[in-house]
Amino acid sequence: MSELHISLSVDGRAVSIAAGCTVLDAARELGIDIPTLCFLKGSAPFTSCMVCMVADDVTGKLLPACSSLAQEGMQIVTTTDHVREARQRALELLLSEHVGDCEGPCRCVCPVKMDIPRLLRAVGRGDWPEARGIVDQAQPHCVLEQDCKAPCERVCRRNQIDTHVSIRAVVRAVAAMDVEGDAALAVAPFERNVSVIGKLQDGEKAALMNDASTAAPVKSADPGGALSPDEARQEAARCMHCDCRKAHDCALRSCAEAYEASQRHYGTRGRHPFEQIAQHADILYEPGKCIRCGICIRIAEREAEPLGLTFIGRGFDLRIGVPFEQSLADGLRTVARACAEACPTGALCVRPEIQHPGKVSR
Ligand code: SF4
Ligand code: SF4
Ligand code: SF4
Ligand code: FES
Repeated sequence: MSELHISLSVDGRAVSIAAGCTVLDAARELGIDIPTLCFLKGSAPFTSCMVCMVADDVTGKLLPACSSLAQEGMQIVTTTDHVREARQRALELLLSEHVGDCEGPCRCVCPVKMDIPRLLRAVGRGDWPEARGIVDQAQPHCVLEQDCKAPCERVCRRNQIDTHVSIRAVVRAVAAMDVEGDAALAVAPFERNVSVIGKLQDGEKAALMNDASTAAPVKSADPGGALSPDEARQEAARCMHCDCRKAHDCALRSCAEAYEASQRHYGTRGRHPFEQIAQHADILYEPGKCIRCGICIRIAEREAEPLGLTFIGRGFDLRIGVPFEQSLADGLRTVARACAEACPTGALCVRPEIQHPGKVSR
Protein backbone atom coordinates (compact mmCIF):
# COMPACT_ATOMS: atom_id res chain seq x y z
CA MET A 1 0.00 0.00 0.00
CA SER A 2 1.27 3.52 -0.80
CA GLU A 3 2.85 5.63 1.95
CA LEU A 4 -0.05 7.99 1.69
CA HIS A 5 -2.41 5.32 2.94
CA ILE A 6 -2.90 3.82 6.36
CA SER A 7 -4.06 0.25 6.92
CA LEU A 8 -6.05 -0.61 10.01
CA SER A 9 -9.02 -2.71 11.01
CA VAL A 10 -12.37 -1.74 12.45
CA ASP A 11 -14.37 -4.50 14.12
CA GLY A 12 -12.10 -7.05 12.46
CA ARG A 13 -12.56 -5.66 8.95
CA ALA A 14 -9.49 -4.34 7.10
CA VAL A 15 -9.59 -0.87 5.63
CA SER A 16 -7.05 1.35 3.91
CA ILE A 17 -7.55 5.06 4.16
CA ALA A 18 -5.63 8.23 3.22
CA ALA A 19 -3.18 9.52 5.82
CA GLY A 20 -4.73 12.35 7.80
CA CYS A 21 -8.15 10.67 7.96
CA THR A 22 -9.71 9.86 11.30
CA VAL A 23 -10.88 6.62 12.86
CA LEU A 24 -14.43 7.86 12.23
CA ASP A 25 -13.62 8.23 8.51
CA ALA A 26 -12.26 4.67 8.47
CA ALA A 27 -15.37 3.27 10.15
CA ARG A 28 -17.67 5.19 7.81
CA GLU A 29 -15.67 3.89 4.84
CA LEU A 30 -16.72 0.41 5.99
CA GLY A 31 -20.30 1.46 6.67
CA ILE A 32 -19.80 1.00 10.43
CA ASP A 33 -21.94 3.38 12.43
CA ILE A 34 -20.38 5.34 15.30
CA PRO A 35 -22.66 7.80 17.09
CA THR A 36 -21.58 11.44 17.11
CA LEU A 37 -23.09 14.56 18.62
CA CYS A 38 -20.47 17.33 18.31
CA PHE A 39 -19.03 16.22 14.96
CA LEU A 40 -19.76 18.50 12.00
CA LYS A 41 -18.68 17.21 8.62
CA GLY A 42 -16.21 19.52 6.91
CA SER A 43 -15.23 21.30 10.12
CA ALA A 44 -12.32 20.67 12.50
CA PRO A 45 -13.21 18.23 15.30
CA PHE A 46 -14.47 19.77 18.50
CA THR A 47 -14.26 16.66 20.71
CA SER A 48 -16.65 17.70 23.43
CA CYS A 49 -19.42 15.08 23.62
CA MET A 50 -17.31 11.89 23.80
CA VAL A 51 -20.13 9.68 22.52
CA CYS A 52 -17.99 8.58 19.58
CA MET A 53 -15.64 6.61 21.83
CA VAL A 54 -14.03 3.48 20.41
CA ALA A 55 -11.13 1.36 21.66
CA ASP A 56 -7.87 0.32 20.03
CA ASP A 57 -7.25 -3.35 20.87
CA VAL A 58 -3.50 -2.90 20.31
CA THR A 59 -3.07 -0.33 23.10
CA GLY A 60 -6.27 -1.05 25.04
CA LYS A 61 -7.01 2.70 25.06
CA LEU A 62 -10.32 4.43 24.49
CA LEU A 63 -10.28 7.12 21.79
CA PRO A 64 -12.74 9.66 20.42
CA ALA A 65 -13.21 8.44 16.85
CA CYS A 66 -14.03 11.87 15.40
CA SER A 67 -10.66 13.41 16.24
CA SER A 68 -8.24 10.46 16.48
CA LEU A 69 -6.13 10.09 13.38
CA ALA A 70 -6.15 6.63 11.85
CA GLN A 71 -2.78 4.97 12.42
CA GLU A 72 -1.08 2.03 10.80
CA GLY A 73 -1.95 -1.28 12.45
CA MET A 74 -4.75 0.00 14.69
CA GLN A 75 -7.35 -2.62 15.63
CA ILE A 76 -10.38 -0.53 16.43
CA VAL A 77 -13.37 -2.04 18.18
CA THR A 78 -16.67 -0.21 18.33
CA THR A 79 -19.12 -2.56 20.02
CA THR A 80 -17.47 -4.02 23.13
CA ASP A 81 -18.95 -3.58 26.62
CA HIS A 82 -16.06 -1.25 27.46
CA VAL A 83 -16.90 1.04 24.52
CA ARG A 84 -20.61 0.86 25.19
CA GLU A 85 -20.09 1.80 28.80
CA ALA A 86 -17.84 4.76 27.88
CA ARG A 87 -20.53 6.09 25.53
CA GLN A 88 -23.22 5.54 28.14
CA ARG A 89 -21.23 7.50 30.76
CA ALA A 90 -20.58 10.33 28.30
CA LEU A 91 -24.32 10.55 27.62
CA GLU A 92 -25.16 10.43 31.31
CA LEU A 93 -22.86 13.37 31.96
CA LEU A 94 -24.66 15.36 29.26
CA LEU A 95 -28.06 14.36 30.67
CA SER A 96 -27.09 15.32 34.22
CA GLU A 97 -27.27 19.00 33.20
CA HIS A 98 -30.16 18.61 30.81
CA VAL A 99 -33.34 20.62 31.43
CA GLY A 100 -36.55 19.80 29.58
CA ASP A 101 -39.20 17.18 28.92
CA CYS A 102 -39.02 15.21 25.67
CA GLU A 103 -42.77 14.64 25.75
CA GLY A 104 -45.67 16.57 27.25
CA PRO A 105 -47.49 14.86 30.13
CA CYS A 106 -50.70 14.70 28.06
CA ARG A 107 -49.09 12.46 25.48
CA CYS A 108 -47.33 10.30 28.07
CA VAL A 109 -50.65 9.22 29.58
CA CYS A 110 -52.72 9.01 26.39
CA PRO A 111 -53.76 5.36 25.90
CA VAL A 112 -53.18 5.62 22.14
CA LYS A 113 -50.11 7.85 22.56
CA MET A 114 -51.47 10.56 20.31
CA ASP A 115 -48.98 13.38 19.80
CA ILE A 116 -51.27 15.93 21.44
CA PRO A 117 -48.92 18.95 21.65
CA ARG A 118 -48.04 18.57 17.97
CA LEU A 119 -51.72 18.21 17.11
CA LEU A 120 -52.52 21.40 19.01
CA ARG A 121 -49.76 23.28 17.19
CA ALA A 122 -51.10 22.10 13.84
CA VAL A 123 -54.64 23.14 14.81
CA GLY A 124 -53.34 26.51 16.08
CA ARG A 125 -51.78 27.13 12.66
CA GLY A 126 -54.94 25.95 10.90
CA ASP A 127 -52.92 23.15 9.29
CA TRP A 128 -55.84 20.75 9.03
CA PRO A 129 -54.15 18.04 6.91
CA GLU A 130 -51.35 17.69 9.47
CA ALA A 131 -53.81 17.77 12.37
CA ARG A 132 -55.99 15.15 10.73
CA GLY A 133 -52.95 13.02 9.93
CA ILE A 134 -51.94 12.99 13.61
CA VAL A 135 -55.48 12.03 14.68
CA ASP A 136 -55.83 9.37 11.98
CA GLN A 137 -52.48 7.80 12.80
CA ALA A 138 -53.34 7.52 16.47
CA GLN A 139 -56.87 6.26 15.72
CA PRO A 140 -58.30 7.50 19.02
CA HIS A 141 -61.61 5.61 18.80
CA CYS A 142 -61.99 6.00 22.54
CA VAL A 143 -62.19 9.79 22.15
CA LEU A 144 -64.41 9.72 19.11
CA GLU A 145 -66.80 7.25 20.68
CA GLN A 146 -67.05 9.50 23.76
CA ASP A 147 -65.93 6.88 26.31
CA CYS A 148 -62.37 8.12 26.85
CA LYS A 149 -61.60 8.90 30.51
CA ALA A 150 -59.36 11.71 29.25
CA PRO A 151 -56.23 11.17 31.34
CA CYS A 152 -54.61 13.76 29.06
CA GLU A 153 -56.98 16.46 30.31
CA ARG A 154 -56.48 15.35 33.90
CA VAL A 155 -52.69 15.80 33.70
CA CYS A 156 -52.76 18.87 31.44
CA ARG A 157 -50.56 21.53 33.01
CA ARG A 158 -53.11 24.20 32.20
CA ASN A 159 -55.11 22.82 35.12
CA GLN A 160 -52.57 24.56 37.35
CA ILE A 161 -53.44 27.93 35.79
CA ASP A 162 -57.18 27.72 35.05
CA THR A 163 -58.53 24.61 33.36
CA HIS A 164 -57.16 21.99 30.99
CA VAL A 165 -57.06 22.39 27.23
CA SER A 166 -60.22 20.73 25.85
CA ILE A 167 -58.19 18.13 24.03
CA ARG A 168 -61.08 15.78 23.29
CA ALA A 169 -63.20 18.55 21.82
CA VAL A 170 -60.31 19.60 19.57
CA VAL A 171 -59.73 15.99 18.46
CA ARG A 172 -63.42 15.61 17.63
CA ALA A 173 -63.41 18.90 15.69
CA VAL A 174 -60.42 17.71 13.65
CA ALA A 175 -61.97 14.28 13.04
CA ALA A 176 -65.19 15.90 11.81
CA MET A 177 -63.42 18.01 9.19
CA ASP A 178 -63.38 17.29 5.50
CA VAL A 179 -59.74 16.73 4.62
CA GLU A 180 -58.86 15.55 1.14
CA GLY A 181 -56.77 12.40 0.57
CA ASP A 182 -55.18 10.12 3.12
CA ALA A 183 -54.11 12.61 5.77
CA ALA A 184 -52.30 9.98 7.83
CA LEU A 185 -49.77 9.65 5.02
CA ALA A 186 -49.05 13.37 5.07
CA VAL A 187 -47.34 13.39 8.46
CA ALA A 188 -44.10 11.78 9.60
CA PRO A 189 -44.50 8.22 10.92
CA PHE A 190 -46.25 8.09 14.25
CA GLU A 191 -43.65 7.66 16.99
CA ARG A 192 -44.84 5.54 19.87
CA ASN A 193 -41.76 5.79 22.03
CA VAL A 194 -42.60 8.11 24.90
CA SER A 195 -39.53 7.84 27.08
CA VAL A 196 -38.88 11.13 28.81
CA ILE A 197 -35.38 12.47 29.20
CA GLY A 198 -34.56 15.70 30.95
CA LYS A 199 -37.71 15.73 33.03
CA LEU A 200 -38.68 19.17 34.31
CA GLN A 201 -38.52 19.80 38.02
CA ASP A 202 -41.29 21.69 39.84
CA GLY A 203 -39.70 25.15 39.68
CA GLU A 204 -39.00 24.62 36.00
CA LYS A 205 -42.65 23.78 35.33
CA ALA A 206 -43.63 27.01 37.04
CA ALA A 207 -41.37 28.94 34.64
CA LEU A 208 -43.14 27.30 31.70
CA MET A 209 -46.53 28.26 33.12
CA ASN A 210 -45.48 31.88 33.55
CA ASP A 211 -45.21 32.17 29.80
CA ALA A 212 -48.57 30.56 29.02
CA SER A 213 -51.25 32.32 26.98
CA THR A 214 -53.82 34.06 29.17
CA ALA A 215 -56.77 33.22 26.88
CA ALA A 216 -59.86 31.87 28.65
CA PRO A 217 -61.24 28.42 27.74
CA VAL A 218 -63.31 28.57 24.56
CA LYS A 219 -67.06 28.22 24.93
CA SER A 220 -68.63 26.42 21.99
CA ALA A 221 -71.55 28.15 20.27
CA ASP A 222 -72.95 24.70 19.44
CA PRO A 223 -75.51 23.34 21.95
CA GLY A 224 -73.90 19.88 21.67
CA GLY A 225 -70.49 21.35 22.58
CA ALA A 226 -68.83 20.69 19.20
CA LEU A 227 -66.09 23.18 18.39
CA SER A 228 -66.07 24.97 15.03
CA PRO A 229 -62.67 25.12 13.25
CA ASP A 230 -62.14 28.67 14.56
CA GLU A 231 -63.07 27.66 18.10
CA ALA A 232 -60.74 24.66 17.87
CA ARG A 233 -57.91 27.00 16.85
CA GLN A 234 -58.58 29.31 19.77
CA GLU A 235 -58.70 26.41 22.20
CA ALA A 236 -55.51 24.91 20.79
CA ALA A 237 -53.77 28.25 21.35
CA ARG A 238 -54.16 27.73 25.12
CA CYS A 239 -51.67 24.85 24.99
CA MET A 240 -48.36 25.66 26.69
CA HIS A 241 -46.36 23.28 24.48
CA CYS A 242 -44.83 21.35 27.33
CA ASP A 243 -43.07 18.95 24.98
CA CYS A 244 -39.76 19.41 23.22
CA ARG A 245 -40.00 20.55 19.57
CA LYS A 246 -37.21 18.13 18.68
CA ALA A 247 -38.80 15.13 20.37
CA HIS A 248 -38.90 13.21 17.08
CA ASP A 249 -35.59 14.37 15.80
CA CYS A 250 -33.18 14.65 18.70
CA ALA A 251 -29.82 12.97 18.34
CA LEU A 252 -29.18 13.17 22.09
CA ARG A 253 -32.46 11.41 22.84
CA SER A 254 -31.87 8.68 20.24
CA CYS A 255 -28.36 8.05 21.55
CA ALA A 256 -29.51 8.07 25.17
CA GLU A 257 -32.18 5.49 24.33
CA ALA A 258 -29.79 3.34 22.30
CA TYR A 259 -27.23 3.30 25.15
CA GLU A 260 -29.79 3.13 27.96
CA ALA A 261 -28.23 6.22 29.51
CA SER A 262 -29.92 7.26 32.72
CA GLN A 263 -30.25 10.85 33.81
CA ARG A 264 -30.14 9.66 37.40
CA HIS A 265 -26.65 8.17 37.15
CA TYR A 266 -24.92 11.46 37.98
CA GLY A 267 -27.96 13.15 39.54
CA THR A 268 -29.40 16.45 38.35
CA ARG A 269 -28.59 18.77 41.23
CA GLY A 270 -26.32 21.18 39.41
CA ARG A 271 -28.52 22.12 36.51
CA HIS A 272 -29.44 25.51 35.15
CA PRO A 273 -32.95 26.98 35.43
CA PHE A 274 -35.47 26.27 32.70
CA GLU A 275 -35.33 29.06 30.12
CA GLN A 276 -36.88 29.55 26.69
CA ILE A 277 -35.55 32.42 24.59
CA ALA A 278 -37.97 33.44 21.86
CA GLN A 279 -36.20 36.51 20.52
CA HIS A 280 -35.96 35.10 17.02
CA ALA A 281 -38.98 34.83 14.74
CA ASP A 282 -37.89 31.49 13.28
CA ILE A 283 -36.20 29.62 16.09
CA LEU A 284 -36.49 28.97 19.80
CA TYR A 285 -33.44 28.68 22.08
CA GLU A 286 -33.50 26.59 25.26
CA PRO A 287 -30.09 26.92 26.92
CA GLY A 288 -30.83 24.06 29.35
CA LYS A 289 -30.82 21.61 26.45
CA CYS A 290 -27.52 22.82 24.99
CA ILE A 291 -24.69 20.29 25.10
CA ARG A 292 -22.14 22.93 24.02
CA CYS A 293 -21.18 21.06 20.89
CA GLY A 294 -20.37 24.31 19.07
CA ILE A 295 -22.08 23.14 15.85
CA CYS A 296 -24.26 26.27 15.62
CA ILE A 297 -21.21 28.49 16.17
CA ARG A 298 -19.27 26.72 13.46
CA ILE A 299 -22.17 26.87 10.97
CA ALA A 300 -22.62 30.60 11.56
CA GLU A 301 -18.87 31.09 11.07
CA ARG A 302 -18.74 28.96 7.94
CA GLU A 303 -21.70 30.78 6.40
CA ALA A 304 -20.17 34.17 7.27
CA GLU A 305 -22.92 35.46 9.52
CA PRO A 306 -21.76 38.99 10.37
CA LEU A 307 -22.24 38.56 14.13
CA GLY A 308 -22.87 34.85 14.56
CA LEU A 309 -22.61 33.03 17.88
CA THR A 310 -19.90 32.45 20.40
CA PHE A 311 -19.36 30.71 23.73
CA ILE A 312 -19.97 33.02 26.67
CA GLY A 313 -18.92 32.34 30.29
CA ARG A 314 -16.78 29.53 31.67
CA GLY A 315 -17.08 26.04 33.08
CA PHE A 316 -20.59 25.15 34.27
CA ASP A 317 -21.85 28.59 33.15
CA LEU A 318 -20.58 28.24 29.60
CA ARG A 319 -23.37 28.86 27.08
CA ILE A 320 -23.83 30.02 23.54
CA GLY A 321 -24.70 33.64 22.97
CA VAL A 322 -24.37 36.47 20.51
CA PRO A 323 -21.27 38.69 20.74
CA PHE A 324 -21.64 42.20 22.19
CA GLU A 325 -24.82 41.16 24.05
CA GLN A 326 -26.85 41.44 20.87
CA SER A 327 -30.05 39.43 20.41
CA LEU A 328 -30.33 36.05 18.72
CA ALA A 329 -32.17 37.74 15.84
CA ASP A 330 -29.11 39.95 15.25
CA GLY A 331 -26.68 37.05 15.59
CA LEU A 332 -28.45 34.67 13.25
CA ARG A 333 -29.82 36.67 10.31
CA THR A 334 -29.44 34.08 7.58
CA VAL A 335 -28.53 30.71 9.10
CA ALA A 336 -30.92 30.40 12.04
CA ARG A 337 -32.83 27.54 10.48
CA ALA A 338 -29.68 25.75 9.38
CA CYS A 339 -28.32 25.99 12.93
CA ALA A 340 -31.59 24.74 14.41
CA GLU A 341 -31.74 21.83 12.01
CA ALA A 342 -28.14 20.84 12.73
CA CYS A 343 -28.40 21.24 16.50
CA PRO A 344 -28.25 17.69 17.92
CA THR A 345 -30.76 18.54 20.68
CA GLY A 346 -33.80 20.74 21.18
CA ALA A 347 -31.59 23.63 22.34
CA LEU A 348 -32.15 25.35 19.01
CA CYS A 349 -35.29 24.39 17.17
CA VAL A 350 -37.46 25.75 14.41
CA ARG A 351 -40.67 27.26 15.80
CA PRO A 352 -43.64 25.52 14.28
CA GLU A 353 -46.29 27.20 16.37
CA ILE A 354 -47.91 30.53 15.80
CA GLN A 355 -46.93 32.76 18.69
CA HIS A 356 -49.62 34.36 20.78
CA PRO A 357 -49.73 38.15 20.45
CA GLY A 358 -47.78 39.73 23.27
CA LYS A 359 -45.78 36.59 23.95
CA VAL A 360 -42.42 37.63 22.60
CA SER A 361 -38.85 37.92 23.75
CA ARG A 362 -37.87 36.27 26.96
S1 SF4 B 1 -33.45 18.05 23.62
FE1 SF4 B 1 -33.76 15.89 23.14
S2 SF4 B 1 -33.38 14.82 25.07
FE2 SF4 B 1 -33.73 16.99 25.53
S3 SF4 B 1 -35.90 17.19 26.01
FE3 SF4 B 1 -35.63 17.60 23.80
S4 SF4 B 1 -35.98 15.60 22.79
FE4 SF4 B 1 -35.60 15.21 24.96
S1 SF4 C 1 -50.65 22.45 28.08
FE1 SF4 C 1 -50.64 21.42 26.07
S2 SF4 C 1 -48.73 20.22 26.03
FE2 SF4 C 1 -49.09 20.85 28.17
S3 SF4 C 1 -50.14 19.10 29.08
FE3 SF4 C 1 -51.74 20.53 28.36
S4 SF4 C 1 -52.26 19.89 26.27
FE4 SF4 C 1 -50.32 18.90 26.85
S1 SF4 D 1 -27.34 25.25 20.71
FE1 SF4 D 1 -27.31 23.18 19.80
S2 SF4 D 1 -25.79 23.32 18.15
FE2 SF4 D 1 -25.45 25.07 19.49
S3 SF4 D 1 -23.89 24.44 20.95
FE3 SF4 D 1 -25.89 24.03 21.90
S4 SF4 D 1 -26.38 21.93 21.38
FE4 SF4 D 1 -24.75 22.57 20.00
S1 FES E 1 -18.47 13.34 18.12
FE1 FES E 1 -16.51 12.82 18.83
S2 FES E 1 -16.33 13.84 20.71
FE2 FES E 1 -18.30 14.43 19.96
